[in-house]
Amino acid sequence: MRFTGKTALVTGAASGIGRSAALALAAEGANVALNDVQGGSLPSAEIGRDRSSEHLADVSEPSSVERMVNDVWDRWGRLDVVLANAGINRDGFLEQLTNEDWDEVVRVNLGGAFFVCRAAFPKLTDGGSVVITSSVSALGNRGQANYAASKAGLMGLARTLALEGAARAVRVNAVAPGFTDTPMVRAIPDKLRTKLVERVPLGRMAAPLEIARAMLFLASKEASYITGQVLFVDGGVSVGL
Ligand SMILES: NC(=O)c1ccc[n+]([C@@H]2O[C@H](COP(=O)([O-])OP(=O)(O)OC[C@H]3O[C@@H](n4cnc5c(N)ncnc54)[C@H](O)[C@@H]3O)[C@@H](O)[C@H]2O)c1
Repeated sequence: MRFTGKTALVTGAASGIGRSAALALAAEGANVALNDVQGGSLPSAEIGRDRSSEHLADVSEPSSVERMVNDVWDRWGRLDVVLANAGINRDGFLEQLTNEDWDEVVRVNLGGAFFVCRAAFPKLTDGGSVVITSSVSALGNRGQANYAASKAGLMGLARTLALEGAARAVRVNAVAPGFTDTPMVRAIPDKLRTKLVERVPLGRMAAPLEIARAMLFLASKEASYITGQVLFVDGGVSVGL
């Protein structure tokens, strides 16, 4: 069990990749602080109330994030792992994207990870670890100018925080998932989804757990000399670009 005695904070833990990662961390011994903006599906019952805590907060609101991290500290008295994972998309081609589409996506995806890292960093145990969820879309994806820009920004954030955390052996990495079977992707019309899957060299979407496993690897001692890196977990999509 790689995370016994550790406390992990997972944002966006009510759905998809974050939920899967929270369950995987708990299965490997961690106490898990579960964040989401909506609480309905947080996996606290599955994990157990003694091993998890719920923290409803919008990661794009700096004061809510500060409060959340303080609550996590009050509940567990330590913080070893942060998965800055919450994210949204508001897709459209450039001319269709509204100011709100831009602001909302950049504020939640890029701002959210920044606010969470800024609040959590001083509390992270020496030798702790942060994993930020970027995306293969950071390399460029039609109809996702706002989302791609936010996810590319996260790569810069991860690399910079890796440098700033290194003196305390705090490691910061990013995962860049490809097409993953979560509610975010289920919203895409069937025909387009089939077309997108056809472009994946491995010929299928990822299961959320396949992304979560990569996050846990980066967060664990197995990755003790890996920092400032982006791990593409994308079935080969980025290789063919
Ligand atoms: N599904 C994919 O194909 C894919 C690919 C690459 C990257 N990603 C990224 O993976 C991460 C998880 O996405 P997912 O596919 O599991 O999507 P999802 O929609 O299933 O889960 C995202 C969760 O984040 C929460 N959330 C949204 N805004 C929030 C906020 N302001 N504060 C707190 N929580 C908030 C949502 O309520 C939801 O529970 C996101 O950052 C997403 O951009 C997903």
